[in-house]
Order: sequence, then C-alpha cells, then structure tokens
Amino acid sequence: MNIHRADFPILNREVYGKPLVYLDNGATTQKPQCVIDAITKEYLNVNANVHRGVHYLSQEATRLYEEARETVRAFINADSIEEIIFTRGTTESINLVAASFGEAFLREGNEVIVTEMEHHSNIVPWQLLRSRKGIVLKVCPITDEGRLNLEALEQLFTPKTRLLACTHVSNVLGTVNPVADIIRMAHAHDVPVLIDGAQSVPHMPLDVHALDADFYAFSGHKVYGPTGIGVLYGKQKWLELMPPYMGGGEMIGKVSFEHTTFNVLPYKFEAGTPDYVAAHGLAAALDFVSCIGMDKIQEYEHELTRYAREQMALIPGMQFYGPSDNAVISFNVAAPPLGKAGRGTSLIHHLDLGTLLDRLGIAVRTGHHCAEPLMHRLGIEGTVRASLALYNTKEEIDALVAGIDRVRKMF
Ligand code: ALA
Repeated sequence: MNIHRADFPILNREVYGKPLVYLDNGATTQKPQCVIDAITKEYLNVNANVHRGVHYLSQEATRLYEEARETVRAFINADSIEEIIFTRGTTESINLVAASFGEAFLREGNEVIVTEMEHHSNIVPWQLLRSRKGIVLKVCPITDEGRLNLEALEQLFTPKTRLLACTHVSNVLGTVNPVADIIRMAHAHDVPVLIDGAQSVPHMPLDVHALDADFYAFSGHKVYGPTGIGVLYGKQKWLELMPPYMGGGEMIGKVSFEHTTFNVLPYKFEAGTPDYVAAHGLAAALDFVSCIGMDKIQEYEHELTRYAREQMALIPGMQFYGPSDNAVISFNVAAPPLGKAGRGTSLIHHLDLGTLLDRLGIAVRTGHHCAEPLMHRLGIEGTVRASLALYNTKEEIDALVAGIDRVRKMF
C-alpha cells in the first residue's frame, strides 16, 4: 500500500460504482488535504488583496504570498525571489517570454528553435510571434525511439538563432530530455534556453541554478497544487531587460497620462490582482512533496513506470510510443484478428479504449495530447495515455492492464 494515498481524499471515491483509478496525472494531479486546508484557511481567516493595503489582513495575505514566492525559489534553487514570477501556469509563462523577450530581442529573420515533441503551448506562442515579427521557427526532429536528435539540433544553430525553447519531459512520449547538455550546447552558440517544465517539476528534483536555464516554466496544478497558478523562472539579467507583458495595477512605478514607469522585479510582470490564495496553496503543495523528498518520488515513480511497461507489454497487440522514461506511458492496442473471414488487425480507436476504461473506473487521457505535430511525426491520430503520480500503486497498474485486456476482448 502507498502510504501517501491517505493524504488525497478524492482517491477514496468511486466512479460508476467502481473504485477510482486515476491515471491522468499528466493533465492534472489530485490535491492533498494540506493544500485544500491551506486554501480554505486563507479564505476563512486572511483573505485580502496583496500589496495594496495597510490593514492587518492585507499585510498577512501579502506575507503569505511573498513566503510562497520564497518557497518556490528554494524549491527550484533560483538565486533570488526577483527571478520568480507568478503566472496562471506554464502556458502563460511561455506566452510571457514569447511576447516580452520577443519584443526586446527578436527581429525579422531571427530564429527560434523548438522541437518535434513540444506541447502546443510551446509552439503556438512562437507562431503568433512569427506572424507579428517575421521570426523563423526551426524544428529539432526526434528519433524513431522518441528521443531528440541531438546531432540534428546542433546543426540548427546559426548566427541568427536567438532562443531555444524545449520541453524537459514529453507529455506524450515520457522522454526525459538531457536538458543540461542541451543548455550547454545552446550556450556554446550564445543562445539562451527556455525549458517547459510542466511534466518534469512534479516528478524529479530541479535545480535551475545548476542547470543554468535562462527561463523555466511550470504549473502548480500538475504538482499537487491548485489550478490557476504557475511559475516563470527567468534569469534576472534577462528579466531586467524585458518589457512588461501586461499593463495594470502593481506593475507600475508612477503613472501619468504622459508617461508611466514600471515596478521592480518580479512585480513588473505581475499586473493585476494575482491569485495569491493559489500561490499559498502551491507553497503548501511544494512543502508536501519536499517533505516526502523529490528524489524518493522520482525513484518510486520510476519503479512504477517500469512495472507498468512490463505488465502492459504482455498484452497482445500493445504498441507503445516513446521510451516512458518517466511517469508517462502512451499506447494503442490492436484489436484481435477476426479470423478467416475477418479483416486484418487494426488499432482499437484510442477514444473507444479510453471511454471503455472510464466505465471500469480508470481515468486515462486520449487523443493528440495537445501535440498534433508529434502525432503527424508518429503517423497516428492519437494515443491512450496513462500518466502516474506519487500516489499510484501496482494494484492500480494491474487494474489498468486487466481493463485494457477486457476492452480488447470486446473487439
Ligand atoms: N498538458 C496537459 C497534458 O498533457 C494538459 O495532459
């Protein structure tokens, strides 16, 4: 039995009269009681707008918000709190860099490198920038095993390259990219690097200082925290030179109709009332995983992923996509052949498989997983994806395997 399950009340519920087997953690994770309590207690006892009041509650809310920033800083080992910007999530963090770094540093003809395994949120912001500024988007290919082709990546750098934007862990293939090597390679070409950490931060220790990442983006809700809060880490030297992303309250110094000056970091990038309650909830989530130990979580999930791949491989017609280095297993299953009169084997549609698994109480994600260019590369429309978290168990993997086998026999 997994000792951490008891901290997650939702895992006790049933769906369709069956115990919930929640394997859609790549989309979002469930919340431990301490995170739910942190949010509830703040609304019950503290709630007031931050950085805007001399009164007691506002001061206390501001303290909790700024303590949350320090918790994030320590968790990812950033050098200073000036480098920690609260956003709504990974998507907003990447859009902020595309808009603001793009405004400051990218001109027509400049090149941004992305990879074939990116989520739409690390493709479309650069395409929007391409429409606005005429930049060129270059794409690093993947190998048939689902790894980045690093020789091809090296060839993509030119004197016009201004940024490399790359995921740490693929949300489809489960590939853990060698981001330290990639950052070293990019820096050797004087190119800064943005890392999409949406699928890495919940699963492994992170040290942005040691990595030497220029920007690192992640979401709170995938690391057991609330929705609506995320983080952009950025090196201070870049953030100082970048213009604000949004205008409004808090990001200003002085405002007149003629001229406005901007606040210092990190507030320059936090226009409007932030989700300070969610920031506090995120800090509770990071404290929770830190208490367990990110290295222990990584070790446990590695073992569970290995077990899942082994057991799933025993199912006839199983087709995996990617190496599943970490917590993510994408697959399709061939329907059994129909015998003499029948057609040849064909894949069970991922949506059918996911829907039928759901009726057995098993939550997985199906479809293109917001990575359509990767689906084109793989030559498929979609996959079924089981994605694991620290509270999943081998019994749940067994339930998944039995469920897939049962569905397969229906076809
Ligand atoms: N990006 C999230 C996923 O891969 C939503 O499921």
